[in-house]
Amino acid sequence: MKQTVIVTNRIEKPALEKLESHFNVTFFTGSDDLNNQDFLNDLKIAKGLIGLFIEIDADFLDLAPNLKIVSTISVGYNHLDIKELTKRGIMATHTPDILNDTVADTMIALLLATARRIPELDRYVKNKEWTSLIPTELYGEDVHHKTLGIIGMGRIGHVIAQRANLGFDMPILYNSRTRKPEAEERFNAKHLELDDLLKQSDYIILITPLTEETEGMIGKREFDLMKDTAIFINGSRGATIVENDLIQALNDKKIKAAGLDVYNEEPVEVDNPLLKMNNVVTLPHIGSSTLATELAMSMHATEDAIRGLTGQKPKSLINNETYKEK
Ligand code: DGY
Repeated sequence: MKQTVIVTNRIEKPALEKLESHFNVTFFTGSDDLNNQDFLNDLKIAKGLIGLFIEIDADFLDLAPNLKIVSTISVGYNHLDIKELTKRGIMATHTPDILNDTVADTMIALLLATARRIPELDRYVKNKEWTSLIPTELYGEDVHHKTLGIIGMGRIGHVIAQRANLGFDMPILYNSRTRKPEAEERFNAKHLELDDLLKQSDYIILITPLTEETEGMIGKREFDLMKDTAIFINGSRGATIVENDLIQALNDKKIKAAGLDVYNEEPVEVDNPLLKMNNVVTLPHIGSSTLATELAMSMHATEDAIRGLTGQKPKSLINNETYKEK
């Protein structure tokens, strides 16, 4: 008999077809399912869980006592309680590397869009306000040759540095737990303490994973250290910053503008003050969302789930200690 695998929220079609050729597949579509007895029965026998962001914690795992693997279709896995999964011997996998270029493209796009005020000027043209020379108040800021500070020089950070330094001649400053000799050699990137990076950068891209150490790492104190001309881009997770402090910093003109792909609440609340600010460019957490990359991520997670449930070691296993060679 085929093992049962639960798909949470969404998976690209070819990956679903592959999954269905190996397993009985059931869909989890939202917390209401947890009141649906048929779903709870499937969860009880499920061996695998694959998909997009849902909180997997001890309470959820109590409902899934036969689970062997959880495969998230994302590089970030802050929504998985890894300690709890490991304690229960459940493998957890994610999708690193596949999305590096796509996320870096998004970050550069967000940087350019915010600095050059692209969405605002798009609205200006479409609203038929372009009836004579545009007022100089609508001019944007140069990006080329400006100093970029990257917080979190991991795999995605390297690709951002490559684009910014080799493409836009931007000097690169970075902050991360360890020195990155490759970035220092290839992009002349300079490792700085966080406070110095915040003081010296014209543009700041936050791209660190959300962990206990990085939660709330950018708040009032940090926004105060930035230049009042600084443009701040968040491509990590909403909770790495104190969102109210960002709102305050923008209101008080402590920084110039922000480009955001992530928020405290997702989808972002409709009355979030950030949505009313012309100097804030907002994206709906689409860092990796191109068709090709989402498909590759879905496939990678699917193949890892298949590996994990057929006795092989998943390629992108997070908690290595859960894999027992047969
Ligand atoms: C991820 O995969 O964690 C990213 O947030 C996608 O944008």
